Amino acid sequence: MTDRFESLPYRGLPALRLHSPDGGTVTVLRYGAQVVSWQPAPGDERLFMSERAYFAPGKPIRGGIPVVFPQFGPRGPLPRHGFARTLDWTETERRAMDTFTTATWRLSASDATRKIWPAEFAAEVTVSVERSRLDVELHVENPGAAPFEFTTALHTYLAVPELEAIRIAGLEGTEFEDQTRGNIRSRQQTELLAFEEEVDRIYAAPKPQLVLHAPRRPLLIEQSGFRDTVVWNPWEEKCAAFADMAPGEFRRMVCVEAAQTLVPVQLAPGAEWSGRQSLSLAG
Ligand code: BG6
Repeated sequence: MTDRFESLPYRGLPALRLHSPDGGTVTVLRYGAQVVSWQPAPGDERLFMSERAYFAPGKPIRGGIPVVFPQFGPRGPLPRHGFARTLDWTETERRAMDTFTTATWRLSASDATRKIWPAEFAAEVTVSVERSRLDVELHVENPGAAPFEFTTALHTYLAVPELEAIRIAGLEGTEFEDQTRGNIRSRQQTELLAFEEEVDRIYAAPKPQLVLHAPRRPLLIEQSGFRDTVVWNPWEEKCAAFADMAPGEFRRMVCVEAAQTLVPVQLAPGAEWSGRQSLSLAG
């Protein structure tokens, strides 16, 4: 334990704040191994957290980086977006490196998970921070005797100054499933994705590097391991219907999720899979 690691309550839940040597911080809850804040410099928050987010057992937290596992959305028999985001994970490792600070949390099959999903799994989330960069890695193993499959996402809520002023670059030419239009397949025609209505798209195997163009806050978004990228903004009506979002808050966020949803990951006994999303200050 050094002063790189600070245990604290965050909205009443146990959290660990990692400080990088160059002044960046990331705050991670035991609940869901969910990142709830990334600040490259004090006060410069880059992740969105809803003013009305629930911080209560059993409820998902609307903001930060929820870990979606082992089911994306309602595409299966499990709770929406799986159960990993509403269970406590166990911290297993923390390390203070020369240029960054990192910690790992683990969730394994338990009586509670076996009741709804028979897989013998072990999952780990590793979060690493430096001033200009945040890395989140999900690692899943199959220590059991039977194969299983899963879908997953790092459901990153990015804070934006004004939704209509942002653009996402890097998706041109990529096919997507449009979840606002009965999952019909379309192709991204424009170089830049702008937000003028609800957007809920699963881009199939896009380029692994996107850029969020936001006034004064450009961000490079990279992923590896995850095949797909989900881009989501609920827009006005859906936002107003969410009890855990304040009206108008949809203008301050966009989700860009490193995801594996269209083709599930298959894990044979003894096999493992890893996926990573990295956010870095651009420009
Ligand atoms: C996104 C989905 O990943 O998550 C959307 O593509 C969904 O369809 C959104 O509305 C939020 O889900 P939830 O369960 O956190 O409200």
